Amino acid sequence: MRLQSLNYSFRHSSHFELIMFPLPANVICLPRTNQIDALLTMIRDKNTTRGDFIFYSDRVIRLLVEEGLNHLPVVEKTIVTPTGNEFKGVQFKGKICGVSIMRAGEAMEQGLRECCRSVRIGKILIQRDEETAQPKLPPDIKDRYVLLLDPMLATGGSAIKAIEVLLENDVPEDKILFLNLLAAPEGINAVTSKFSKLKIVTAFVDQALNEKKYIVPGLGDFGDRYFTSP
Ligand code: PRP
Ligand code: URA
Repeated sequence: MRLQSLNYSFRHSSHFELIMFPLPANVICLPRTNQIDALLTMIRDKNTTRGDFIFYSDRVIRLLVEEGLNHLPVVEKTIVTPTGNEFKGVQFKGKICGVSIMRAGEAMEQGLRECCRSVRIGKILIQRDEETAQPKLPPDIKDRYVLLLDPMLATGGSAIKAIEVLLENDVPEDKILFLNLLAAPEGINAVTSKFSKLKIVTAFVDQALNEKKYIVPGLGDFGDRYFTSP
């Protein structure tokens, strides 16, 4: 059953019953395909080596960026082809930039660069459970659509802090697109109940958080597996 593609997700109870709940309208989940299922299986597996974890995460990140770009507005643009004929096409309406939540979000920067050549990228240093955030953002960020990058959405605390920093820097909420690899329902609820105008694009919504606030079944600590584990 692959109803996540229809904007639905599953919650597994402790008795393994499937309880379906609709995702909020501003949450887009990647379509469930054999490919995405296989990629996610690789990165969830605790026996996957760091090299494979990086390779398969990068594949999912690339799919997330491609899907995210589908949600940016375009305006009409008419061009002339080499045959001398006109073609009524489109171009993106505004400038974009990426903002990664350090450290794990930095793993998503390359995927964005592969799709958007010379894209500006800012960073926000946020540690889970800490109140402070240290941003380094493009000076004209308020005039750009912002692709916020963090692979893990657990309690939502880090994402909410990052979004608040963007809003304090005059980025309109409806110009924020949060690209995320794995989300917990708790994080989705926390972010969307506070911010209804931004969009979240995620690859999968998991079951829940465990007592340590890790996503389950999850994939463990993304930053450790991508940047440091053997
Ligand atoms: C991880 C992850 C998110 C955050 C998600 O970062 O990359 O930023 O946790 O959890 P939350 O939704 O409960 O805030 P962490 O602070 O562990 O740092 P890291 O990126 O260095 O691994
Ligand atoms: N950050 C991670 O890397 N993994 C989780 O499950 C939760 C937060």
